[in-house]
Amino acid sequence: MSRIKQPYIPPSEITSEHIWQSRRTWLKRAGAGAIALGATGVSGSAMLLHSSAALGGQEKGRLSGTPNSDYWLENKLTSEKDVTTYNNFYEFGTDKSAPSQYAQKLETRPWKIEIEGEVEKPSSFDIDDLLKLASIEERVYRLRCVEAWSMVIPWSGYSLSTLLSQVRPTSKAKYVQFVSDVQPENMPGLRSRIIDWPYVEALRIDEAMHPLVMLVFGVYGKLLPNQNGAPMRVAIPWKYGFKSGKSIVKIRLLEKLPETSWVKIAPREYGFYANVNPSVPHPRWSQATERRIGDGIFSPRVDTLMFNGYGEQVADLYSGMDLKRYY
Ligand code: MTE
Repeated sequence: MSRIKQPYIPPSEITSEHIWQSRRTWLKRAGAGAIALGATGVSGSAMLLHSSAALGGQEKGRLSGTPNSDYWLENKLTSEKDVTTYNNFYEFGTDKSAPSQYAQKLETRPWKIEIEGEVEKPSSFDIDDLLKLASIEERVYRLRCVEAWSMVIPWSGYSLSTLLSQVRPTSKAKYVQFVSDVQPENMPGLRSRIIDWPYVEALRIDEAMHPLVMLVFGVYGKLLPNQNGAPMRVAIPWKYGFKSGKSIVKIRLLEKLPETSWVKIAPREYGFYANVNPSVPHPRWSQATERRIGDGIFSPRVDTLMFNGYGEQVADLYSGMDLKRYY
């Protein structure tokens, strides 16, 4: 995997008073991990090759991966409490507190992920096999929500491209769609018809193959709590948070641009690309600044960065495109 430079985050943008662990501890862990595995990156290899030792142990809900310094933000993290209690997961309700209140009923085992459409090898994976498909990495990503708040989160998982290369997309595969689960008995938010369930999101195939796009199985060194999208979600750090579908059961490779939930609800307000862009306001509010969750209500808002600070890695994907038109 090519080396990805860390996005630049000014120290003034630090999120909360809580520090995940000291920088020294992290670097020690990163060093130890690199020695144990011989490398810090996920290999693009298409084999089930990692022992449970390499996974770092998943007993008692833990999911400790190898810190990947290529994706590291030397930064204070949003507290685990905020990450797990201030959520958007409309299947459980629209209040930020609803997912942590109601998602305990979500059934996450058994859990299959179907991959279908324009692939040479349509496949059905058991979630527990996906957990062993590649070495689990810890990466600190920024999450910028379209509602103009943000967090800094230590996710555990590996690049989506590792999984997609297993099923071998055909040359017709132009888009990748993510379909979230629907559990009518367990998701009280489904009664609201704001969204035409299931929640669906999608990327262009070249975006989906970018190593920054992460399949996430854990956060803060533990398996994902249900409210954060257990047992598997995606994280796409340069796009508004709504692109990162939760509790995914199906991945479709498609020739034509697929429907996505928020574009369907309000196409003038939410675009397919949804790249974080401070110079393109939402029709009802500015996207130039953001509120860091955990900073306190009197803390100043911070400037939003183009592509959420990941421009050096992803701007090439959009060269020649008018990002005001393709918002
Ligand atoms: N996925 C599903 N299935 N349903 C949702 O309502 N909300 C999105 C995204 N993924 C959503 C979803 C939005 S708007 C955001 S900001 C992020 O999840 C929030 O992720 P978090 O709660 O883990 O911070």
